[in-house]
Amino acid sequence: MSARPQPRSGVLAINAYVPGKSHAPGVARVFKLSSNETPLGPSPRAIQAYREVAAHLQDYPDGAATTLREAIGKTFGLDPDRIVCGAGSDDLLNLLARAYLADGDEAVHTTHGFLVYPIATLGSGAKPVVATEKNYTADVDAILAAVTERTRIVFLANPNNPTGTYIPFDEVRRLHAGLRPDILLVLDAAYAEYVRRNDYEAGIELVATSDNVVMCRTFSKIHGLAALRLGWLYGPAHIVDALNRIRGPFNVNAPAIAAGVAALADTAHVERSRTHNERWLKWLTDEIGKLGLQVTPSVANFLLIHFPANAGRTAKEADAFLTARGLVLRQVGAYQLPNALRMTVGSEEANRLVVAALAEFLG
Ligand SMILES: Cc1ncc(COP(=O)(O)O)c(C=O)c1O
Repeated sequence: MSARPQPRSGVLAINAYVPGKSHAPGVARVFKLSSNETPLGPSPRAIQAYREVAAHLQDYPDGAATTLREAIGKTFGLDPDRIVCGAGSDDLLNLLARAYLADGDEAVHTTHGFLVYPIATLGSGAKPVVATEKNYTADVDAILAAVTERTRIVFLANPNNPTGTYIPFDEVRRLHAGLRPDILLVLDAAYAEYVRRNDYEAGIELVATSDNVVMCRTFSKIHGLAALRLGWLYGPAHIVDALNRIRGPFNVNAPAIAAGVAALADTAHVERSRTHNERWLKWLTDEIGKLGLQVTPSVANFLLIHFPANAGRTAKEADAFLTARGLVLRQVGAYQLPNALRMTVGSEEANRLVVAALAEFLG
């Protein structure tokens, strides 16, 4: 017997999540383009709602986040009873793993899938199984081939972070049709609001019509509320029931609930963010492409830029060069992408500075 407490199997196999950098040493003015936060910030109405809660900090929040679930229900045409809110969608992804995975089970994610999936899987004692991607894009056939009798969850980020790619809804449906009914399909649609494609759907229809699909969403991206940690999930009643049993009784705080309700109401602000992103995502893709760097076509609010492997031109060196100028992007070696950097679409000023700095870097 061990002489000291031991975490459950899998915990020490986790490579702890390393968040995007926020600082550039010695640089006064920093543009943080490392965590896919919106350059427009939150709605002023959300900030105001947040401030108003400051007068009531002694009170516990509504543990059921009722006003927020109702506001989400109204916005998306969903039954509030089938919504669970969480402290970020990270919270919900971990709750799903805790509720549906046990020692020896398997959960599938794709090669460059969001890192929280293997972390949540290992933390629940289960084994992450990697399905290969094609052209930096999830491949339904590979996911289905990765399924075994031990599979309990399939995690799919659509669009995916850090690649920015998506699969059309027909493909999501084909994936679902190929899974056993006891396997939970988690559709993580953190970037759904940014997608402008007719063949994309975040997953609402599939959740509504099946017993084994959930969709996760976040207020961290288009709503600009990452600091408050706020996400939500839409799922079948039996899954919502299971999550409500194991979630923290007050897992969402009162300022987050208030700000979330106000953010949803400010549809003009959301639209401004979408319009800004649409314009600058295209501009960045074109301009960076013109510099001779390969950019993976993205439908989200960030892009994956590929660098050559030769000395003086690598992603790591580019990152150092940009960081020294206050332009903080994200290295994605942990996502099996050692030769790429991920850049969040920033303000016009930040975007122009990055393109100019990359041009200088490449000589
Ligand atoms: C694909 C994906 N899912 C979920 C999250 C988690 O978002 P949050 O926990 O802030 O809601 C992120 C954040 O980077 C993400 O990229």
